Amino acid sequence: MAVSDSDRLFLDAADELAARGLYSAPPNPKVGCLLVRQGVVLGRGWHEHTGGPHAEIVALDDAGGIDRLAGATCYVSLEPCAHHGRTPPCTEALIKAKVARVVAAATDPNPLVSGAGFEMLRQAGITVDVVELPAARDLNPGYFKQMEHDLPWVRLKVAGSLDGRAAMASGESQWITSEAARADVQHFRARSSAVVTGIGTVLADDPALTVRITKDARQPLRVVLDSTLRTPANARILGEPGQALLVTTRAAVTRDVPAEVLVLEGRRVPLDGLLSALVARDCNEVLVEAGPELTGAFLTAGLWDELILYQAPKLLGASARGFAGFRIDALADAVDGRIVETLQVGEDLRIRVLRA
Ligand SMILES: NC(=O)c1ccc[n+]([C@@H]2O[C@H](COP(=O)([O-])OP(=O)(O)OC[C@H]3O[C@@H](n4cnc5c(N)ncnc54)[C@H](OP(=O)(O)O)[C@@H]3O)[C@@H](O)[C@H]2O)c1
Repeated sequence: MAVSDSDRLFLDAADELAARGLYSAPPNPKVGCLLVRQGVVLGRGWHEHTGGPHAEIVALDDAGGIDRLAGATCYVSLEPCAHHGRTPPCTEALIKAKVARVVAAATDPNPLVSGAGFEMLRQAGITVDVVELPAARDLNPGYFKQMEHDLPWVRLKVAGSLDGRAAMASGESQWITSEAARADVQHFRARSSAVVTGIGTVLADDPALTVRITKDARQPLRVVLDSTLRTPANARILGEPGQALLVTTRAAVTRDVPAEVLVLEGRRVPLDGLLSALVARDCNEVLVEAGPELTGAFLTAGLWDELILYQAPKLLGASARGFAGFRIDALADAVDGRIVETLQVGEDLRIRVLRA
């Protein structure tokens, strides 16, 4: 069936609803749904948290139940699920509700669904139109990366100066950027399943790495890469609400620490092994908030997807440490990215870069 301008508007609205689950839905995808008949919105829904009802079921309830929806169109930001997971398949509910048409903004990359949801709807005589909206995918980078590559989406965050410095030679780095920039980081933390740092940062700054946007915010897993287990037992990262994980190697001294410890093979914590371990725990969107050494290691290993650089209008000079602590001799070896967004945040600039 031809897709009209109003179809696109309703689909955009479903995607906006999906974004309401940004901080609560992970590791599940953020999904929104709108049920419409003759231009009138009958029900709206979004997926709020893992284990909770899917967006389509919330919208069906919002419309007053399946008896009131015959002939309606369902606009949904991701293909309705066709399998019995934590909840029954949404396709069954839509078929029972006798909707006439489903318009979706993305095919679900989950191999248990991928096209099967659409097929089940078509088999039941429902018209299905798929309008691939980049925004629907952009809202769920971690879910798509996990399903398509068995890896998490890795977002590196750095606060630096105009000349790209992230710490003074003494280790001092608090604070290079403004309070507004630091508040902005909270949003990236809140949408992540895990926040990763290095032992260098733990020893220098003793950060909490918690989400503080609301009192009862979901806390991502806090992860420290610490090859010889030097994290102090009283480090803030271990004592805050939520879970902490120390990732170490066989070189670590055995000692009691008030956190879960994961031992990986290698002289240092292997970053590929770390990412596999995180994705196995359903951590599909990972924020790295580390110093130059670990940030540089992710960049040179090509194990990153996105870089968020907050740049303060300050120059810290040549003795300060650059945020990417690796050395190369030729321009040809540069780590390349492409700028997809720039935004002024307080006095600072936020630059969003995707891996080229
Ligand atoms: N401006 C900012 O955005 C920002 C953010 C965070 C920190 N900082 C500043 O950065 C400085 C600390 O930076 P840093 O570079 O020393 O610390 P870091 O990057 O946070 O941590 C580096 C440490 O991580 C451990 N590690 C484990 N596996 C690794 C791997 N595969 N690759 C690389 N490292 C691995 C290593 O210690 P082991 O070998 O012992 O495990 C390494 O020394 C401080 O001055 C802090 O204030 C600035």
